[in-house]
Formats: sequence, C-alpha cells, structure tokens
Amino acid sequence: MNLLPYSPSNIEEIKQLFTKVFSDSEGQSEGLLIGNLVYDLMTGTYVQDLYGFVAIENEKIIGSIFFTRLTFESEVNAFILSPVAIHTDYQGKGFGQKLINFGIHHLKENGVELVFTYGDPKFYSKVGFSLITEKLVKAPFALTYPEGWLGQSLVGDEIEPITGDSYCVNALNKSEYW
Ligand SMILES: CC(C)(COP(=O)(O)OP(=O)(O)OC[C@H]1O[C@@H](n2cnc3c(N)ncnc32)[C@H](O)[C@@H]1OP(=O)(O)O)[C@@H](O)C(=O)NCCC(=O)NCCS
Repeated sequence: MNLLPYSPSNIEEIKQLFTKVFSDSEGQSEGLLIGNLVYDLMTGTYVQDLYGFVAIENEKIIGSIFFTRLTFESEVNAFILSPVAIHTDYQGKGFGQKLINFGIHHLKENGVELVFTYGDPKFYSKVGFSLITEKLVKAPFALTYPEGWLGQSLVGDEIEPITGDSYCVNALNKSEYW
C-alpha cells in the first residue's frame, strides 16, 4: 500500500470511495451525505486549512482521510480528523490505522499541535486518541454523542484546557454532523 497526499485530480474517485464505503456500512443516505461532505471539504476549504491523504493499492484509491482546521479564540494549531474510509474489501487489515498514523505524522511535521476527532473511542484509541470533555475543549456544536469526543496532543502528553469557543471549516459547519 502506498500512502500520499491527495491530488485535485483524485476528487471524483475519492468522493465515490466515501459514498460506497459509508453506503456499505451505514446505508445509502449516509453514503451520499459523507460523499458530499468530502466533496465540499476538497472544493470549499482553504488549502492551509485542509490536509487530505489517500492509500493506493494496485493503482486504485482504497482509502482516504481528511483533516481540517479547528480554530479557537486562543492561538493553537489544531485540526480535526473527519472523515476516514477504507474500501470495504480492504477493512480489518490494518490499513486504516496505517493511514491515520501517516496523516498524523504529516500534520506533526507541519507544526500541528492538537488533533481531535469525533467517533468510536475503541477504534481511535488504537491511534493515540483519548476521551476528552466538552468542558476541556469545546466542540463547534453541542455533541449528540459526547462519549465520542476525542483528542491527542502532538507536542506533549496531555491536552491542556482551551478556553472559549471553537470553529470548524464551512463544510463541517452543520449540526447534523455533530
Ligand atoms: C473505520 C475504518 C477506517 C478502520 O479501518 P480498517 O482498515 O478497517 O481498520 P484496521 O484494520 O486498521 O483496524 C482494525 C481494528 O479496528 C477495529 N475497527 C474497525 N472498524 C471499526 C469501527 N467502525 N468501529 C470500531 N472499531 C473498528 C477492529 O475491530 C479492529 O480491532 P482489532 O484489531 O482489535 O480487532 C474502516 O473500517 C472504515 O472505513 N469503516 C467504515 C467507515 C467508518 O466507519 N469510518 C470511520 C468514521 S469517520
């Protein structure tokens, strides 16, 4: 498997990957929702606020991941991981963890201090995330599943409390994602 930053020429293939993977795992309407979300992320986000990566196997994109900036009133270089997908036929082989670790390593090399995500703690704890509270770090919206609010520091052991509100990029700025 080859891991590398996505290129704008991959946009349609990536959109199709997310649509297929999330249709398979969560149903067609969720597939369409997430396919459209990644399209909006790729086409409507400032380059300095977006990192995207792909996993290639036999010249096909079999995995992809996106990180977008989370802005706070205080100056902190933070991103949120969302979403990530591994093609259904390739799941459970360690590719997801490799892709996430590759992305996080790239962010760290570029000076990112904190990474957040919103998902299953059992899976994301395998790649360095721990449970955090909305009191410690506010999410951009009130969370439907506060038990899925996760973070990791790339510069220290623990995440220090951050005061004030947080703001996500436009594509994620819809309450239905939170
Ligand atoms: C979640 C996903 C990216 C993980 O990638 P993967 O390559 O399948 O995972 P890996 O092989 O690296 O890791 C497998 C481990 O994670 C666990 N795992 C995989 N998918 C999981 C999920 N959706 N929820 C909880 N745990 C999961 C497995 O149980 C396994 O743990 P084990 O080794 O202790 O048995 C992939 O399964 C996927 O695309 N799923 C559908 C879309 C999705 O749910 N995306 C995440 C939300 S944005």
